[in-house]
Amino acid sequence: MKKFEEHVVALESFAFEGKSIARVDGFVVFVDGGVPGDEVRVRINKVKKQHAEASVVEVVKSSPLRAVPPCAHFGTCGGCKWQHVDYQAQLDFKRQHVIDALERIGGFTGVQVNPTIGSEDVYFYRNKMEFSFGTKWITREELNERNLNPEPRTERETFALGMHIPQRFDKIVDINECHLQSHVSNQILNLVRQFCLDRQLSIYSTFTHTGYLRNLVIRQSAHTNELMVNLVTSEDTPELLVALSSTLFAAFPSITTIVNNITQRKSQVAIGDYEKVYHGPGFVTEKIGKRTYRISANSFFQTNTKQAERLYDVATRMAQLSPDDVVFDLYSGTGTIALHIADSVKEVVGVENVEAAVEDAKKNAEANCVTNCTFILGDLKDRLTKDTAWLGNHPKPNVMIIDPPRAGMHEKVVREVVEMRPERIVYVSCNPATQARDLKLICNETGYELVEVQPVDMFPHTYHIENVVSLKLRP
Ligand SMILES: C[S@@+](CC[C@H](N)C(=O)[O-])C[C@H]1O[C@@H](n2cnc3c(N)ncnc32)[C@H](O)[C@@H]1O
Repeated sequence: MKKFEEHVVALESFAFEGKSIARVDGFVVFVDGGVPGDEVRVRINKVKKQHAEASVVEVVKSSPLRAVPPCAHFGTCGGCKWQHVDYQAQLDFKRQHVIDALERIGGFTGVQVNPTIGSEDVYFYRNKMEFSFGTKWITREELNERNLNPEPRTERETFALGMHIPQRFDKIVDINECHLQSHVSNQILNLVRQFCLDRQLSIYSTFTHTGYLRNLVIRQSAHTNELMVNLVTSEDTPELLVALSSTLFAAFPSITTIVNNITQRKSQVAIGDYEKVYHGPGFVTEKIGKRTYRISANSFFQTNTKQAERLYDVATRMAQLSPDDVVFDLYSGTGTIALHIADSVKEVVGVENVEAAVEDAKKNAEANCVTNCTFILGDLKDRLTKDTAWLGNHPKPNVMIIDPPRAGMHEKVVREVVEMRPERIVYVSCNPATQARDLKLICNETGYELVEVQPVDMFPHTYHIENVVSLKLRP
C-alpha cells in the first residue's frame, strides 16, 4: 500500500478518535470522515507497519447511520467530528467504546453497560466557546478555485476568528456560525471579527510571538442567560477595549459582563496573566441542581450545564448516599460534585491541586450556605502518601467519588484509595481507556468489584464520552 493510493472499502466499526476501521486485503486502514456501514472511496494519507490512515474522497454507498450535518464548517473545523452520524448511533457507538475499553484494557468480562444517557440538547449545548484569532485555513476547494496557489490574496484572508483545524495549531477555520453555541453568541463572534478587521488589529503569531489578538471566549449561563464576552490579548489597550465594549453593549444589551484577559505567555491557553473588567461584575452565575456558581473568565466549569446535572445525579444515585456517610471527592475541581451531594451526607472532603479551583470551591460552598464541605489543596499523590496530616482532621471515608483528568489516576493514588477501603467507590471519567486501566488495578485481588457502568454523553457530535462506574467492597 502506498500514500495517495485510492481504494473502495467497506467501513466496519468505529475505532479510536472517531475514525472507522476498514481492511484492504486484510491490512487495517483507519478512515477519517466515514460512518460504519458506508462503502467509500478513500485516499491513503499515511502507511505504517501495522496499519494505514486514510480519508474519505467519495461516499459510494451511504450507511443507514448517516445524518446530514447542519453546519457549513463541518469537515474542516476541529470542533465536531460526528455531525454526520445519527445521534442514537453516536450513543450506541460510545457505549460500545466503553465496553471495549473495559474488556480489552481492564480485562473485565461480561460487564453490563447501561445504554448511554443522551444529552437533551444535541446542538447549542455549550455554555462556553473559545475561539482563536489566527491565519486563515484555506480549504482544498478554495485552493482549486485559485489554481492551487496557497498565497492569501487579500488582507481579509490572512485574518480568521474561529476554531483550529485538527492537528494544526497555526491554522484557523474562520467561523460565522457555530452550532454548539447560542445564536446571540454567533452574532457576537461576527461583530468582534468586524470590529477587529475595521481597525486592522494585528493577530498574535505563535511563530514570532508578536501581534495583539489571541482569543475570544463567550460564556452564556444556561439557567440565568447571563452573558460574558472575554477578549484575550497580548497587550493592555484600555481605549480600544472601551470602544469594543460600547460597540458590543449597544448591539447586544443582553451582555452582562465584558472582560479583557492580557497575557504575554507563549503557550496557547486562553488565560490572562491579569484581567480587566470593562462592563458588569466580571463573572456569570450558573446553576446546577439547587446550587449556584459564580464563574469568572478563568474558572473551570462543565460546558454542558444541563447534562452536568444529570451526570452528577447519576454519580449521586450510584454512590447510594445516606446521612451518616463521609465522602472523599477526589479531583474536586471547583467543588461542584461535593456541593451537589452535601445535603445527602454527613461530610464531604474535596482534594484538588489547582489553587484557584480550591478557592472557587470554598467560595461556592459559602455562597450556597453549605457548611459540611472542606476543600484541601494539593497533588493527590502527595496528599495521600506523605503530606497526610489533614487526614487526621476527618473521619475515615466510607464513600469515595473520584473524577480525575483524562490521564486517569496515579498508581500511588489507586493504591492509597484501595488501602483506605471505602465501602463504595464511584469513578467518573472522561477517558474510558485510562478508567479501565485504573479499574483493573482497583479490582486486582483487593475485594472490590464493579456494580454498575453508566455512560453519559456530555458532548454530542464528538467521540468523547463520560463514563460513571460504581464499585463495592465485597463483605
Ligand atoms: C475532570 S476534572 C473534575 C472536576 C470536578 N469534579 C467537576 O466535575 O467539575 C479533574 C480535576 O482534577 C484536578 N487534578 C488533576 N490532577 C490532579 C492531581 N494530581 N491531584 C489533585 N487534583 C488534580 C484538575 O485540576 C481538575 O480540577
